[in-house]
Amino acid sequence: MDNQSTIPESDPFTLFEVWFGEARSSEPNDPNAMALATATPDGFPSVRMVLLKGHGADGFVFYTNAESRKGEQIRANMRASLLFHWKSLRRQVRIEGPLEEVTEAEADAYFHSRPRASQIGSAASDQSRPLPDRQVYIDRVHALESRYPEGDIPRPPHWTGFRLSPRRIEFWNDREYRLHDRRLFERAAPDRPWSNTLLYP
Ligand SMILES: Cc1cc2nc3c(=O)[nH]c(=O)nc-3n(C[C@H](O)[C@H](O)[C@H](O)COP(=O)(O)O)c2cc1C
Repeated sequence: MDNQSTIPESDPFTLFEVWFGEARSSEPNDPNAMALATATPDGFPSVRMVLLKGHGADGFVFYTNAESRKGEQIRANMRASLLFHWKSLRRQVRIEGPLEEVTEAEADAYFHSRPRASQIGSAASDQSRPLPDRQVYIDRVHALESRYPEGDIPRPPHWTGFRLSPRRIEFWNDREYRLHDRRLFERAAPDRPWSNTLLYP
């Protein structure tokens, strides 16, 4: 049985880039889909999927409605955990750390990079709040279409992004006989070096 780890000790951002690149060519859809875990004010875990829309040495970025359920949880507790599971590769990456809101310029740039219909759809949505009837949402979409007959839609101020600055990144690789491979990278702060260790699967 092979006694070497398949997960190199290299910088975790570089390793993420390699695995994400492989996921982009192997996953049938949304290789950037990740579970975002937050917590309710009384400590219940709360999880949902979001899309990774930016990543680099300063962190992992997603966009959402800050008045949604997750948005309220984030405002009260700027910490989160992200999880990628790339089924076709049989790989998992877990990322944990504090969040910060992206700048208005970043949020504007991303919002306006989306198709006009998506801008309208998210501007019309009171995400996570009760919708009495789907027609109410459709009417709001039509109202925005009439109000802004062409071009970009102004970004609602509560539509924004958050950047998770990782303190822990764990890579998991499927291995034969369930002798899976795990390597955990940890750092105390963004300006501190990463340490890493293998973990029992
Ligand atoms: C694959 C996938 C990707 C999604 N991406 C996003 C996203 O990037 N941003 C977002 O706000 N919601 C996204 N959603 C919807 C969320 O999972 C969730 O339903 C919504 O954000 C409301 O969550 P909340 O009530 O916890 O705030 C996505 C759902 C799926 C299934």
